[in-house]
Amino acid sequence: MTLSVKHLLGIKELQPEDIERIFQTADNFKQVLNRPIKKVPSLRDTTVANIFFENSTRTRISFELAEKRLSADVVNFSASGSSVSKGETLIDTVNNILAMKVDMVVMRHSASGAPWFLANHIDASIINAGDGINEHPTQALLDAYSIRERLGDVKGKRVVLIGDIMHSRVALSNIFCLTKLGAEVMVAGPPTLIPKHIESLGVKVEYDVKKALQWCEVANVLRIQLERQHKPLFSTLREYALYYGVNRQMLDSIEKEIVIMHPGPINRGVELNSDVADSKQSIILPQVENGVAIRMAVIYLLSGKREVE
Ligand code: CP
Repeated sequence: MTLSVKHLLGIKELQPEDIERIFQTADNFKQVLNRPIKKVPSLRDTTVANIFFENSTRTRISFELAEKRLSADVVNFSASGSSVSKGETLIDTVNNILAMKVDMVVMRHSASGAPWFLANHIDASIINAGDGINEHPTQALLDAYSIRERLGDVKGKRVVLIGDIMHSRVALSNIFCLTKLGAEVMVAGPPTLIPKHIESLGVKVEYDVKKALQWCEVANVLRIQLERQHKPLFSTLREYALYYGVNRQMLDSIEKEIVIMHPGPINRGVELNSDVADSKQSIILPQVENGVAIRMAVIYLLSGKREVE
């Protein structure tokens, strides 16, 4: 079992069959992760480098755990404290790491397109762990996998992505992944945070968050990315929370129980209130748990291994 691609750069390049294969492989790895010994020897001949040019908590730890659960050798690189501060280029940095016999690179970078650029210059398989405002493919895979786990299937489900769609790589990868799997997708939030012409990606647009919640079965609430907003796109965080934040009162006013997701990190009290984030409607921590199995599946399938041992 392999994928139709050599690298996992974006969901855009994947076939629906690739996504199903990743999910089936993740099902096997979830069983492994629930055993007393949560480890398989599958990648004991493989070395993976995690190179992070941008901050991360979940993705970085999740990839490292996934690699270790597969028995791979792992090296971690952070731009801070490295020779990047002395002016070393991306290609030189990665080629120096590869010269130490690394087989696979997991990379996060603030520049959109950086993993595609690298894929044109090196031989090792690359997994995109988030590039600028472009794609975050493993996040979208774990999100869709978590919907499948909670609701039985993704096909035909109504999913709304709420918040800062403009600056969210999670939003774009989710749109590609969910539409490839046959879900109905809507984006909701303030007009200033929703890109013009986004309907061309096959999604609906709604500026009233309550109406969006009434429409959907699943709401994936996204972080307000102030670090990527170079000019004000709404008045204040208080106003944002008032008009676009998801809170208990709003959820109680609709007549069904929808599934609440968030990729993290959460701005509590801004896009999502704690009484929703920590409620039984929320699958935020199961999303994180599923991330390890999904990343094990991606690494395993890209390595070209045949059987889950
Ligand atoms: N969801 C996500 O990418 O979180 P981190 O930035 O902590 O990795």
